[in-house]
Amino acid sequence: MATVLAVETSCDETAVAIVNNRQVLSSIVASQIAVHKSYGGIVPEVASRQHVEYVNLAIAQALQDAKLDWKSIDGIGVTCAPGLVGALLVGLTAAKTLSLLYQKPLIGVHHLEGHIYASYLTAADLQPPFLCLLVSGGHTSLIYVKDCGHYETLGHTRDDAAGEAFDKVARLMHLGYPGGPVIDRLAQQGNPKAFALPEGQVSLPTGGFHRYDSSFSGLKTAVLRLTQKLQEETGTLPVEDLAASFQEAVAKALTKRAIACALDYGLNTIVVGGGVAANSGLRQHLQTAAQAHNLRVLFPPLKFCTDNAAMIACAAADHLDRGHTSPLTLGAQSRMPI
Ligand code: KG4
Ligand code: ZN
Repeated sequence: MATVLAVETSCDETAVAIVNNRQVLSSIVASQIAVHKSYGGIVPEVASRQHVEYVNLAIAQALQDAKLDWKSIDGIGVTCAPGLVGALLVGLTAAKTLSLLYQKPLIGVHHLEGHIYASYLTAADLQPPFLCLLVSGGHTSLIYVKDCGHYETLGHTRDDAAGEAFDKVARLMHLGYPGGPVIDRLAQQGNPKAFALPEGQVSLPTGGFHRYDSSFSGLKTAVLRLTQKLQEETGTLPVEDLAASFQEAVAKALTKRAIACALDYGLNTIVVGGGVAANSGLRQHLQTAAQAHNLRVLFPPLKFCTDNAAMIACAAADHLDRGHTSPLTLGAQSRMPI
């Protein structure tokens, strides 16, 4: 299998990694969270500038950690979509330059395909078909993984992504950014049954509810109303109970849809990816439900769930082995279906 160096700059992590045969030889992730924290969220222009500052250092470090030189690299992988265009362009420019300079094929990778490939990095026996529940700050998708390059999105969010909902709810409770880890920590000290919150079902025009799609904006509004009411009535906020009840609603909603989807399509493995895969409530609910239905559920280690370049290199290597490469005219796109 090919040895690929990949660059990932779609959002707020500058990441470079080298992967061979699904083994991570090096993985550098320079997080920008500390920089964006003071703004309460990601500022695209700031992200691009940070990528420019870090990308060359990360490339050099990745080669050094893997103890490799350019002769051992068979191809250059790069995230080309979806993401912040300015941020993607930094990674693309770096990858194209390396491709030209060292005469290595360029392989453009869809960011979500990368998240799917994260699961291969630690589960050597994993084979398609399987279902991927991808839950991050930008996406909430149920993807039927048929083979390399063959995916079908079966479910998605109609509004906020799951991670985005965690971040927005944390903001309205003044808990800081990113909200997911803070809410998760508080939820562990709270009562998940303290407040009944809507699960975020999507109505069908024909009646009933969509089995795989979710909606989190109603849940966020319900938390907002509840916090306003509690604040007015009691003058304080039971943040632990609110966090636990909100997390319970999200975890239940995601679990219900993932299990229904896997059973409907006869898929016996569910792989979880994206930052929200770290959530203790989701892990607990999904594991329990999967066990009850005799399904296998895989949570890759957190360092491969959140944005990283090892997952991009892994996907790029599979494409390169199949002879798939990209032209140097490859562009960045903010949106693109997988
Ligand atoms: O995959 P990721 O690192 O970046 C994107 O591609 O978006 O995901 C970041 C998201 C953020 O919204 C963050 O709040 C959420 O993942 N997150 C969590 C947890 N850790 C990170 N959400 C819930 N529980 C967590 N423990
Ligand atoms: Zn991501």
